Amino acid sequence: MATPLKVLVTGATGRTGSLVLQKLQALPEKFIAKGFGRSPEKATEIFGNTDNFYFGSILNPTDLEVAITLPAMTIYQVKGKWLEVA
Ligand SMILES: NC(=O)c1ccc[n+]([C@@H]2O[C@H](COP(=O)([O-])OP(=O)(O)OC[C@H]3O[C@@H](n4cnc5c(N)ncnc54)[C@H](OP(=O)(O)O)[C@@H]3O)[C@@H](O)[C@H]2O)c1
Repeated sequence: MATPLKVLVTGATGRTGSLVLQKLQALPEKFIAKGFGRSPEKATEIFGNTDNFYFGSILNPTDLEVAITLPAMTIYQVKGKWLEVA
């Protein structure tokens, strides 16, 4: 069985990002999916808790740095264009 792809979904408390994250998390054999957002309150409202979430501003490289330390992480940016970092 292939190793699950680690994915960080930014904008994960938004309309598109939350759906993307939910879909990825429903396939744990294929993806280890984490969310990146700026509101723990919104994350809790949508996902029930803040497990598997990182918080910060997408505009702050330091905030993102913490979230992308997982090896082989792919980032999907849902605010603006899609961005993939292998
Ligand atoms: N091509 C298509 O078919 C298609 C369809 C739908 C959407 N889109 C595009 O996808 C993008 C997202 O759309 P959406 O409807 O999901 O928008 P949305 O609901 O407004 O979600 C945007 C997300 O980005 C987060 N965000 C904004 N600034 C941030 C920052 N500085 N740091 C961290 N997070 C930040 C917001 O956080 P908060 O939750 O804290 O506000 C929110 O979760 C847009 O660019 C839209 O044009 C494309």
